[in-house]
Amino acid sequence: MTAAIRVSVVAFDAYGTLFDLASAVRRHADVVGPGAATLAQTWRQKQLEYTWVRTLAGRIVPFWDVTVAALDYALATVPHANPMARDALLDAYRSLDAYADAVDAIDGVLARGMRVAILSNGDPSMVAEAVRGAGLEGRFHAVVSVAGTGAFKVDPRAHRPVLQRFGIVADEACLVSGNRWDVAGARAAGLSAIWVKDRKSTRLNSSHEWISRMPSS
Ligand code: 2OP
Repeated sequence: MTAAIRVSVVAFDAYGTLFDLASAVRRHADVVGPGAATLAQTWRQKQLEYTWVRTLAGRIVPFWDVTVAALDYALATVPHANPMARDALLDAYRSLDAYADAVDAIDGVLARGMRVAILSNGDPSMVAEAVRGAGLEGRFHAVVSVAGTGAFKVDPRAHRPVLQRFGIVADEACLVSGNRWDVAGARAAGLSAIWVKDRKSTRLNSSHEWISRMPSS
């Protein structure tokens, strides 16, 4: 028989879950030009690819460096995307819009008496800036980065900081993520995880409904 899950900490992924990645390119779509949508997609895909390859190769660099390298790749390869937009896009990445439902989702978890965190690949300064920029300061018990683990998610090492921070075991934590691969990684590491499928149309509150049915400690 499987033991009942006792989730006491809900950790939200940052980029693509609480923060709308597309908002950086959207803000500067006029400057980027007709390639804007492809640029946004290529930037994100390359960023993730670099995190996985660097983790496998044991060659970790700060997430910011990966983000910059991925944008440079995208600007060099995507047709009709103006490289002059580079600095503005990087600035925008540091203060992405939060999705409109982020506050409700966080507050709903807090109202259940659970602790709330962010678990992100982002460097501590990046994530802190994003939280401040989106007006989410003060809502989290902890904002946790994988920095210092020698790995990016999906490697199990990347989940340890949030467990250590709260002094809990894996099945006391639940990751909420708009990224399917992130959910796969969390589950492989023994955490519960909720995938918020299609972040464009699915509200985080749907994950909250699920969380509200979990037995909490
Ligand atoms: C994160 O915030 C990269 O979306 C990923 O960890």
